[in-house]
Amino acid sequence: MSLRHNLKKHLPWPLLYLYRKVYYFPLDLKAAVKLLCHGTKTKTTFGGRWMLVRKFYLISYRVDCPHTENELLTIARDILSIPSDVPGAILEAGAFHGGSTAKLSLVAKLAGRELLVFDSFEGMPENSEGGGKSIFGREHHFPKGSHAVGLEEVRENVAKYGDISRAKFFKGFFKDTLPGLREPIAAACVNVDLKESTRDCLKYVFPLVPKGGLFFSQDGHFPWVIELLRDPGFWGVEMGIPKPAMEGLGTSKLVVIRSIGR
Ligand SMILES: C[S@@+](CC[C@H](N)C(=O)[O-])C[C@H]1O[C@@H](n2cnc3c(N)ncnc32)[C@H](O)[C@@H]1O
Repeated sequence: MSLRHNLKKHLPWPLLYLYRKVYYFPLDLKAAVKLLCHGTKTKTTFGGRWMLVRKFYLISYRVDCPHTENELLTIARDILSIPSDVPGAILEAGAFHGGSTAKLSLVAKLAGRELLVFDSFEGMPENSEGGGKSIFGREHHFPKGSHAVGLEEVRENVAKYGDISRAKFFKGFFKDTLPGLREPIAAACVNVDLKESTRDCLKYVFPLVPKGGLFFSQDGHFPWVIELLRDPGFWGVEMGIPKPAMEGLGTSKLVVIRSIGR
C-alpha cells in the first residue's frame, strides 16, 4: 500500500486536508495567482475572484472533494474567460457530494449564468468497465452504485456553501437525462469516471457547446477515457466531426476542448 493511501486511511481529517494542500501547493498557487491576477472576459473584480478562491478552500475543507484545488481554479478562470456573448449555461455532469457543484454555482453567479447539474444521485450505473490504474499509478474501480450520494445532501451542500439559486438538478442516468437537453452550454464540466459515461456526455452535450465555449473532462488521468478521447473513429463516426484539439490529453487529469462550433 502506498504512503499516500496509508496517510489517507489513518490521518485525522484536518491533518489530511493540510497534507493535501501542502502536496498540491505549487500547482494550486499557480492556478490561484492566474485567476486572481489575469483579467477575465466576464467583468469581475479582484475582490470577487478573491472571494472565489477563499470559498473554494472552505468548501474543500467542509465537503469531501475528489478534485484538486488547481483543477477547479483553472476551470473557474477558463469559464470566466468565455466572452459574455457566448450563450449558454454551465453544465456539471457528476456531482458526488456537491463540493464541485457548490464551487461551480459560485462561478455561475460571477459569470451571470445558470448551472445545470446532472447525476444519477445513486452512484455509478451498471457497467462492465473493470477500472485499473490511472496514469499517476493509483488503482480505481467503479462498480455499480459506487460514489452514491443522494440529491438532498448535494442540495444541502450547495445551499450552505454555494449559490443554490443558480443551480437546477437533473436526476437520472445520463443516457436518459442528457438526450432531452436542448439549450446551449457555454461550459461543460464532466467528472464521471467511466468511459461510457464520458461517451454519453460527449455525444449529447458537446454538440450544444457553441463556438467559444468549453468542454472539460476531469477524467483525463484514466487510460480508458484517454483511449476514447484519442479515438478518431469515435469522433468521426459517432460525433460526426474530426477529432478536435485537446489540451492536457494524456498528461493531465484536466482535459480542455475549446469548441470551434459546427
Ligand atoms: C467522481 S464523482 C464526481 C465528483 C465531483 N465532480 C467532485 O469533484 O466533487 C462521479 C459522479 O458521476 C456520477 N455518474 C457517473 N456515471 C454516471 C451516469 N452514467 N449517469 C449519472 N451519473 C453518473 C456518479 O453518480 C458520481 O456522483
